[in-house]
Amino acid sequence: MTDSFAERLLAWHASHGRHDLPWQVSDPYRVWLSEIMLQQTQVTTVIPYYARFLARCPTVADLAAAPHDDVMALWAGLGYYTRARNLHAAAKKVMSDFGGVFPQPPEDIVTLPGVGRSTAAAIAAFSFNTRSAILDGNVKRVLARWAGIDGNIASKAIETRMWDLAQSLLPASQEMPAYTQAIMDLGATVCTPKKSACLTCPMQEDCVARREGRQLELPAPKPK
Ligand code: ADE
Repeated sequence: MTDSFAERLLAWHASHGRHDLPWQVSDPYRVWLSEIMLQQTQVTTVIPYYARFLARCPTVADLAAAPHDDVMALWAGLGYYTRARNLHAAAKKVMSDFGGVFPQPPEDIVTLPGVGRSTAAAIAAFSFNTRSAILDGNVKRVLARWAGIDGNIASKAIETRMWDLAQSLLPASQEMPAYTQAIMDLGATVCTPKKSACLTCPMQEDCVARREGRQLELPAPKPK
């Protein structure tokens, strides 16, 4: 028997994944902050902002109590300022609706402003080891290629199929933080948009796109 998708991904991650990122911690506040910053900004840019933000607001209570202008100043330079407004509103919501304790179930995390289904799942997986699948742009590309999923990935039908597939591939083991980081890292460093490093990929043996030579055709571009 060959190893499962999750087993191969975890083995690859142990030797080739990223292990020294500053948000690889279990404090959900820190994980949440990093995931919001990383939604539209690269890792190398985020690192100094993340450190500065935490020095000023080390807890969700500190963030909720901070003057709005201070929060916007901490964000200045990162762009996509709706993220900062949502971040501040979400911290206040954690204080008012969750007693100051960062919520644990993904269904509660997703109620925070600025947090979608995939980000909620990532926060729960990293902080609480919850078996919740993520499906961001990188993961969609990995899954579309590996499973040979044709069709418009922005459509509801394909989206539903991808969520189901992502959930079905999760490890049985209690390794959700490593698995979640691993699938992000595979998309960011191996299964990349404009080329793909298939010969270093742990999924090369049973990747449909690779077998059919269609790595760069999948996922199909969105129809105009
Ligand atoms: N992009 C989104 N989340 C990330 C994470 N946890 N590590 C690296 N890049 C990311």
